[in-house]
Amino acid sequence: MAHQPPVHSDGYAIELLNAIEDLQAQRYPITIPAPTDPTYAALHAAVQNLAQTLHTRELERHRLSEITTNINAGLLLEDILEMVYEHFKDIIPYNRIGFSLIDADGETVRSHWAKSDRPLSLSLGYADKLTGSSLKTVLESGEPRIISDLAEYLRKKPTSISTRLIVKEGMRSSLTCPLINNGVPVGFLFFSSVEPDTYSHVHVDTFTQIAGQLSVILEKGRLVSQLSAQKEEIERTNAELMRVNELKSTFLGIATHDLRGPIGNIRMIADLLSDDVIALSDSERAGLIHDIGVQSTHMLSLLNDLLDVTRIESGKLELRFEPFALRPFLEQLANRHQMMATPKDTKILLEDFPDMDMTADPVRVRQVIDNLVSNAIKYSPPGSTVVVNATRTREGCRISVTDEGPGITEEDRKKLFKDFAKLSAKPTGGEKSVGLGLAISRRIVEAHGGSIGVDSHTGQGAEFWFIIPAVNRG
Ligand SMILES: Nc1ncnc2c1ncn2[C@@H]1O[C@H](COP(=O)(O)OP(=O)(O)O)[C@@H](O)[C@H]1O
Ligand SMILES: [Mg+2]
Repeated sequence: MAHQPPVHSDGYAIELLNAIEDLQAQRYPITIPAPTDPTYAALHAAVQNLAQTLHTRELERHRLSEITTNINAGLLLEDILEMVYEHFKDIIPYNRIGFSLIDADGETVRSHWAKSDRPLSLSLGYADKLTGSSLKTVLESGEPRIISDLAEYLRKKPTSISTRLIVKEGMRSSLTCPLINNGVPVGFLFFSSVEPDTYSHVHVDTFTQIAGQLSVILEKGRLVSQLSAQKEEIERTNAELMRVNELKSTFLGIATHDLRGPIGNIRMIADLLSDDVIALSDSERAGLIHDIGVQSTHMLSLLNDLLDVTRIESGKLELRFEPFALRPFLEQLANRHQMMATPKDTKILLEDFPDMDMTADPVRVRQVIDNLVSNAIKYSPPGSTVVVNATRTREGCRISVTDEGPGITEEDRKKLFKDFAKLSAKPTGGEKSVGLGLAISRRIVEAHGGSIGVDSHTGQGAEFWFIIPAVNRG
């Protein structure tokens, strides 16, 4: 020290020296007894003041570094805000801290967090347009803003609802800091006090540092959620690819297995027909040609089914909704099936239901009913009756196909509407089975927003039904 103070008889200078040593060693808080000699009064006040300032700085530095530690430890935004509220009271005066974020649209400011020692009027979730509000100016300047008298501010800007609410809470002055992340505005931090004229440039520095720390957490949080969203997306795509790949392998397996038989047969027949050595009668020849027809029909329907599943699976099923009357639609369908059921002596009965309109894709709905009716014929013993009915229910149009076949076992029920479900019931008249019809039907009905199911007791026939909602996106 350049100027040694004269040693006072009561040892006051020693007290001061001790105090300064304490200051240097950062042993806070420091109390210096008041001097008896009035010449030392000014010095006493100056050292006392310096001690106070240094203590506050030290506290501030300490609190800020605590925030940093907690951010690094992964504490959540809400916890950090809670901590700011509890820990900065003796550094910055406030009765309320608020924290708002800007929505993804970049247009709306929304209150995200607030804590006050008074009841809150400006509640969480409160949102306001950024355009036209004074917060927009704060963002543009990038600088904290002090309002020394909120009541007066409100008189000048009576349309500011958020100011009105804050004033209603009893706040009289405020300090607002924009949170800016890599040049992008993300939100605001508000400190408010019940006393007017609370804030000055002295607080702005600490305040800006707190805001800076909060921006760091926001950025961290944004990166984490971005990463986890990307991860989810990749996992979803992966799972989808695996599913499609599995489906493809199954298809390939089925196609090679199920198409090989008929192709082999057709080739054999072709060999027979072109062999000059073997003399075939006209009727034998006609029989073989008929066989080619049967085999290729089966191949075609198998390929059509496979194509349908792939088309639906890859989201290329386009429904053409249109309204149509159900009665003539089902009559035509029943007649067509009756022709095919006659050789098996099976009767198709259309219940006497009141006609109704349905809005759906008629081609696809026909495909579903075709499959249900042909199953009913295929899996029931010869000479039975298949009943087709339609009713209007609360959920929509319900169409049902009831048969007198073996019914569905509890075990089969779980697999019934899945791909390649060839279950315990076997065709009773030498018909072919692929096991895709019901799976396709389910997809079609679901694409209409409807549902499909079966009511059955083993051995007592089955009632297959589906419902197409009355209100459609047609
Ligand atoms: N009405 C029915 N009665 C009994 N079993 C049935 C009936 N409809 C379907 N099933 C069973 O469900 C399986 C799947 O039917 P589906 O998907 O239409 O395939 P497919 O008709 O080619 O066999 C059938 O193989 C059969 O075992
Ligand atoms: Mg079928």
